[in-house]
Amino acid sequence: MQGSDIKTIGIVGAGRVGTALARRAVAAGYDVRIATSKPPAEIALLLEIMVPGAHPATVEAVAAAADIVILALPLSKYRDLEPKMFAGKIVIDVMNYWAPTDGVIPEFEGSKSSSEIVQDYLPKARLVRSFNHIGYHEIEEEARPSGHPGRRSLALAGNDADARRLVAGFIDRIGFDPVEAGDLVRSRSFATGTPVFGAILGHDEMRQRLQDLAESTG
Ligand SMILES: NC(=O)c1ccc[n+]([C@@H]2O[C@H](COP(=O)([O-])OP(=O)(O)OC[C@H]3O[C@@H](n4cnc5c(N)ncnc54)[C@H](OP(=O)(O)O)[C@@H]3O)[C@@H](O)[C@H]2O)c1
Repeated sequence: MQGSDIKTIGIVGAGRVGTALARRAVAAGYDVRIATSKPPAEIALLLEIMVPGAHPATVEAVAAAADIVILALPLSKYRDLEPKMFAGKIVIDVMNYWAPTDGVIPEFEGSKSSSEIVQDYLPKARLVRSFNHIGYHEIEEEARPSGHPGRRSLALAGNDADARRLVAGFIDRIGFDPVEAGDLVRSRSFATGTPVFGAILGHDEMRQRLQDLAESTG
């Protein structure tokens, strides 16, 4: 599959991050479908206002139609997702564990990143973690065309190299320099509380920081 074959972006979650990513994706020319836990008719008006051009759908229809599915729902709700809907799908996990909003969830208190736990739950998904370390408002404020000096970078990590490559193409097309961190275990380097989380870094600085973190953690 080539980057140009990625035409439909599905987003689960129409909150702060979901709608910001959806607007960038619509602007970049993708066909965008969005689902929440509510029936599509209930979010149609919200999308008309917040993301003109995006189409409301059920989670099942979004997962079925999308070339890339973005998970932008609260992490505490991840078990509402039906694993078989995501089998074989390229999935971007933008979710973070943040106890003050999610409440204390013991399974996320260990050393694994939340994305490793979500990947365990969706074992057949080709999961890539990214966009979790940027604020939702910055997704639009800081998007820049490819080659723009000072363009912000975004880290990504996942176990499927082809999925990483295609997600990197999506990140680039919506306005950021993708920097591959490696397998999903490396997503620990840009989880909440790390020096990458919230930091505005260019491509080379991001690469260096991820490398330093990988060397210090082994
Ligand atoms: N806010 C940020 O700056 C930021 C940045 C990076 C990553 N994140 C992460 O991104 C995720 C979303 O954050 P957010 O700030 O966008 O949250 P939010 O504004 O609260 O939006 C959450 C969305 O998920 C939907 N949702 C809730 N339960 C669902 C379910 N079971 N199935 C499908 N959709 C469901 C909600 O709609 P309904 O309740 O109507 O279903 C809502 O549209 C979180 O995990 C957060 O940690 C946030």
